[in-house]
Amino acid sequence: MDNGFEGLPAVAAGAVAAPGVLAILGASGDLTKRLLLPALYNLACDGLLPDDFAVVGMARKEMTSADFRAAQREEIKRFHTRRSFDGDAWDWLESRLHYSAGEFSDPAAYARLRDSIAEVAQGGAAAGNTLLYLAIAPEFFATVNEHLDAAGFTRLPGRRRIIVEKPFGKDLASATALNRALLAHWQEEEIYRIDHYLGKETVQNLFAFRLANPLFAPLWNADHVDHVQISATETVGVETRGEYYDKTGVVRDMLQNHLLQMLAYVCMEPPASLDPDAVRDAKARLLESVRIPTAEAVQAECVRGQYGPGRKADGSPAVGYREEPNVAPASATETYAALTLHIDNDRWRGMPVYLRSGKNLWKRGTEIVVQFKAGSGTLAGEGNLLVFHIQPHQGVEIRVLAKRPGPAFELQRAGMRFDYADTFEASRGTGYEVLLYAALNGDPTLFSRTDFVEAGWRIMQPVLDAWKKAPPDGFPNYPAGSWGPQVASALLARSGRRWHEFLPREVLARNPLFAAAPPVLLNTLVLALRPLAVPAGTAVVHAGDHDHRLFVVCHGRLEALAPDGAVLGALTDGDCFGEMALLLDQPRSATVRAVTPCDLLVLDGPDYGRILADFPAAEEEFRHLAAQRR
Ligand code: BG6
Repeated sequence: MDNGFEGLPAVAAGAVAAPGVLAILGASGDLTKRLLLPALYNLACDGLLPDDFAVVGMARKEMTSADFRAAQREEIKRFHTRRSFDGDAWDWLESRLHYSAGEFSDPAAYARLRDSIAEVAQGGAAAGNTLLYLAIAPEFFATVNEHLDAAGFTRLPGRRRIIVEKPFGKDLASATALNRALLAHWQEEEIYRIDHYLGKETVQNLFAFRLANPLFAPLWNADHVDHVQISATETVGVETRGEYYDKTGVVRDMLQNHLLQMLAYVCMEPPASLDPDAVRDAKARLLESVRIPTAEAVQAECVRGQYGPGRKADGSPAVGYREEPNVAPASATETYAALTLHIDNDRWRGMPVYLRSGKNLWKRGTEIVVQFKAGSGTLAGEGNLLVFHIQPHQGVEIRVLAKRPGPAFELQRAGMRFDYADTFEASRGTGYEVLLYAALNGDPTLFSRTDFVEAGWRIMQPVLDAWKKAPPDGFPNYPAGSWGPQVASALLARSGRRWHEFLPREVLARNPLFAAAPPVLLNTLVLALRPLAVPAGTAVVHAGDHDHRLFVVCHGRLEALAPDGAVLGALTDGDCFGEMALLLDQPRSATVRAVTPCDLLVLDGPDYGRILADFPAAEEEFRHLAAQRR
């Protein structure tokens, strides 16, 4: 591969990175100890850093290089990601750490930094390759750049690069201004904007999967794909970041950057080559073909939410967003959003893309679902799903229908799955390894260009504007630990679709009913259970009905009512209902109504019958539960 840098050799897979000096501005902060040094340490362990490599940290704090090394030596023990600690690799890296103290407002500090960089490079190979990592709050970017320019960093001999962390702007105007401020001092090819999602192997694999597997290419268009869902759900709340988050919200924090990066990989036109600019052109063109939502479209096709008090995924109590530290008591900031986007190009015209992300939800998981259209042949059932499991489970899965073993001709859902854990022998990293490695080698493929960043803001700006103009209704609108607000389910239900919820086996095993279930049963259930979000006040089943569904309560409260309206009992998280009507083939003896919004999993009659036939012990357990309830 040609890395486009004169004087630097092209980089072969597994090769040692190009010599260079990495200056970290803001080196006493969290990013350095939690991510940057653990990533450099991983590269050192894998023998991927060159001898001519050094780090110069800069921050306000007065300390010597020896103090900096000692401090990082302690931190790395806490933050390294490897199974065991490799002392030799750390010593190698530690001997290359240096420190230059200075205030970011003091021009002399930049002159000292420049001299330190020259000194550690000692006129050797590293001297021609300087990386300036801005690990600082974005409000300082513009000033720091002016000082860097004034101190001659933009004119250093050899190659130089500036690496910038998100958030990149807080809206279209500020992002454009920030780009202008950077471009006043640096060339576009010298600016490396980081989106840590591009450091994830499973995100990079989206690109590999599409380009290297011709199997899917003919199907990759609106004729065959019904819609795409991109979800990133988190179990964490805002924790200690209330002050930042309350000014930000999930659209700026997750959708404008991470989710759009994934959308670009899934939907872009295949680039003609792996040249960084060819790839970045293709990504930017895709975002530019996303329809900019009108105010009416935001109203009709985008929904938001904010979490109220509830329970964490582990069952511990969780405060509502408005009670979090440094959050305004009547905050209108969204902690959840679900948006419908449309891509107006020949490939995707007419096919919706749904994006959603939120904090304090029931499950951590980033997944991309490509839902294919249902066929129309003799055995055509539901459309196939292609699922990219980005994290924490890493893999790719195709959901198909298969003939169930046995004399009868019956179909059953099955999954064909490739798991990273079973396929690759790779050490767990921070995600920053590949980004630092690429930056050292001058390969900008995984970094965002001005056009991509601004196209992303152009898509999100109308959403931010519309939501600012119309304060939210009924915030908070989802309890912490739930699947999210009802409006998000309703958004897809309007077109007869639903969000695909992927139940990791461990999440299912949290339910007492399934706690002791063997793995094959759990796998079968994972494929068979279907999510159902129900608003408060809805009757889920009616007394007297003959319906064959079993319900598992993931979240919420319901009551069972006798035909005369008397309350027979309550059901809540971990309970199930409906098994009696199924087991005894009787009409429902009670109506079950949601008292609060409820997140349920539904097992439809035929799946239930099949599972009981295949797993007699499960039938025993259901009967036992039924008897207890009676
Ligand atoms: C960051 C956001 O960019 O991404 C956080 O600021 C969010 O709010 C995080 O939690 C999610 O990253 P990951 O890698 O855990 O999915």
